[in-house]
Amino acid sequence: MSNIIERMLESFYGKYGDRNSKPVLFFSPGRVNLIGEHTDYNGGFVFPCALNFGTYLMIRNNGGKNIRFSTLNFTEEHSVPVKEEYKRIERSWVNYPLGVINEFAKLGYLLPGSDLLFYGDVPNGAGLSSSASIEMVTACAVNEITGAGLALIDLVKLSQKAENIFVGMNCGIMDQFASGFGKKDHAIFLNCDTLDYENVPLILGDYSLIITNTNKRRGLTDSKYNERRAECDKAVEYLQAYRKIRNLSETGTDELALLNKYIPDEIVLKRARHVITENGRVLEAVKVLKENNIARFGELMNQSHDSLRGDYEVTGIELDTLVYEGRKIAGVLGTRMTGAGFGGCTVSIVHKDHVEEYINTITEAYTRKTGLNADFYQPSVGNGSGRIEF
Ligand code: GLA
Repeated sequence: MSNIIERMLESFYGKYGDRNSKPVLFFSPGRVNLIGEHTDYNGGFVFPCALNFGTYLMIRNNGGKNIRFSTLNFTEEHSVPVKEEYKRIERSWVNYPLGVINEFAKLGYLLPGSDLLFYGDVPNGAGLSSSASIEMVTACAVNEITGAGLALIDLVKLSQKAENIFVGMNCGIMDQFASGFGKKDHAIFLNCDTLDYENVPLILGDYSLIITNTNKRRGLTDSKYNERRAECDKAVEYLQAYRKIRNLSETGTDELALLNKYIPDEIVLKRARHVITENGRVLEAVKVLKENNIARFGELMNQSHDSLRGDYEVTGIELDTLVYEGRKIAGVLGTRMTGAGFGGCTVSIVHKDHVEEYINTITEAYTRKTGLNADFYQPSVGNGSGRIEF
């Protein structure tokens, strides 16, 4: 039994008692998006992969009338009576699992009185989908315990809905999809309009994936995120004058000239240009990765960041410092922000012989320029959500 599972089990019995009745265990990973940012809610392409860290959930029917929530990450605990409809608890981590339990209840699948213990090793609010991983792990567990028998894709959609409605973050589908469908050593090329996907082997040879955390508090992320979504909707409205489209991604890179013609608002035009060019970059990135052209893949990552900074304006001094200082270092093929932006993490492809130099140089430069300390992770790419036997 791994250390994490042993610790969870001890804590589970400590909190909820009855060592003779073993709980069941589920795991859902966090994700890092390699390229394709702010395209998912525009019906575009994304290319994320699941990480080897995420959220664990131990759960057991308690035969009572309450659902009890606890976690090894925070001291805050809750006990909520089983109901047919749940209400949001102000400013609580419990909203993520409760929102999912609420979505199942709406479908007629009531989670009986149960004891839940979570543990997450994804850094919170760092843009690595700690939220999607806690939603997906809850969805897998509730699906099994209530006998709902929903397909994985429905758990993904249900979790996204819980985050949109219950948590109030109007996210797209990428994070929950990656957490659900991740495959070891593969990235997921997903069309967010049709939900068709392909697992592409992530073979980086002498290069490593490095995630660097700005450790910048998220602050306004949610409101700025929703603002960007509204700007994209506006762009669609303008483009309707030219042809009926359902989303921005129905406009191809060969049609960029249309933007100047039909979008009079400079800001809206920049947002649309990012989405359309980013879709083009994802298509090329997938192609060059299959051809083993990691150098070109890195260039596309760099272009993606520049577009997110200039056109989409979701970066900021912290992310830009990591990226532009990173690019000065030998062996860094590509480096960009990942996730919603404004803070959170960058993802970089760094030659194995230069990883130490990258970490040392960035540690110094980042603190000098921002006064903050960066954290570094060298993740491996793992599988998606499911039950773990132990
Ligand atoms: C967040 C959202 C995703 C996606 C990214 C930006 O992670 O949860 O749906 O929109 O931002 O690409």
